[in-house]
Amino acid sequence: MIHRHQLDELAAAGRLRGLHSRAGVDFSSNDYLGLANSPRLRDAVLDALLSGVAIGSGGSRLLRGNDPEHERLEAEAAAFFGSESALYLSSGFAANETLFATLPQRGDLVVHDALIHASAHEGLRCGRAERVAAEHNDADAFADAIKQWRAGGGTGRPWIAVESLYSMDGDRAPLDDLVALADETDAFLVVDEAHAVGVYGPDGRGLAAHLDGRDNAIVLRTCGKALGVEGALLCLPRVLRDFLVNRGRGFIFSTAPSPLMARAVGEALRICADEPERRQALQQRVSLAGQVLGVLGIPASGSQIVPVILGDDARAMRVAEMVQQAGYDVRGIRPPTVPPGTSRLRISVTLNASEADIRGLGEALQAAMRAA
Ligand SMILES: Cc1ncc(COP(=O)(O)O)c(C=O)c1O
Repeated sequence: MIHRHQLDELAAAGRLRGLHSRAGVDFSSNDYLGLANSPRLRDAVLDALLSGVAIGSGGSRLLRGNDPEHERLEAEAAAFFGSESALYLSSGFAANETLFATLPQRGDLVVHDALIHASAHEGLRCGRAERVAAEHNDADAFADAIKQWRAGGGTGRPWIAVESLYSMDGDRAPLDDLVALADETDAFLVVDEAHAVGVYGPDGRGLAAHLDGRDNAIVLRTCGKALGVEGALLCLPRVLRDFLVNRGRGFIFSTAPSPLMARAVGEALRICADEPERRQALQQRVSLAGQVLGVLGIPASGSQIVPVILGDDARAMRVAEMVQQAGYDVRGIRPPTVPPGTSRLRISVTLNASEADIRGLGEALQAAMRAA
């Protein structure tokens, strides 16, 4: 059987994945602000439940699934981020897939960063536009791709697709240069703020908050990472929201997200505005992690995501396992999630790990890197 055969091949290559229970201090989640289990989010959900907010939506938004909680959240999110409109989808994956499969048209060109998330690739595969990868974080490469395409007779609209903060490297896109390029070339700019919303910017509005309200920008904010809930908000011009509502297959043919979760996301946005101390505490832990890991020769990424690039797949997994055995939940990441030869540990600094935990992780990592 083909499936068994392929699984056996993965196992032989040491790449078989499995699901494991959570264990150890959290250095691997995206719950950066520690909101997922916070009393305030719990209370908001409990209040909503007791006041009759539905758990399930019961259908597609276009049929009976459109709940007042979805509409309230979208209005709140548009006001919070300053976008003309917002659309709440059930995950960041669904949002990226629906966006890229639907909005770029035949004859358009999507230039995406080489390290863009799998969900964007998935949408682009289903879409009608041409697509090309630009070298990671190289604004000139984006400009060259658009120039070449125009010179070759491209007449549609260019699209530029990036993440503001990359999920596996923790580095940032050159947003200012890309905004200027989008303006110069009449391109749409799509910025995935999955790992930046809640963590950066005024009130935690992210690294791309200044783009909201532009008619050539779309900002994706996932709600299952720093916001501690689930789903994703697309913040975009109203005409594009209307287009997704009419043509986005991932929106139309899918049960609307839980109204209860919509209520929770609204509360998470309010927490971001009301509790700046969470962001400050996280930045202190990021600085401490930078010092502790710096001693081991691991360069700081400048963000809460710190890659420890070990190169060799097997060594990365061995080091991860030793650190896990010492009580720290750090995961090894291998190709195809990251490019070949860059297997790594992905250390995620969150408020779920204390300063003492960060120091302990440094010691465990030092021992593991020596031994492996
Ligand atoms: C950059 C980026 N975009 C989108 C997603 C998908 O978001 P979600 O987990 O809400 O499906 C992820 C998740 O890992 C991500 O890292």
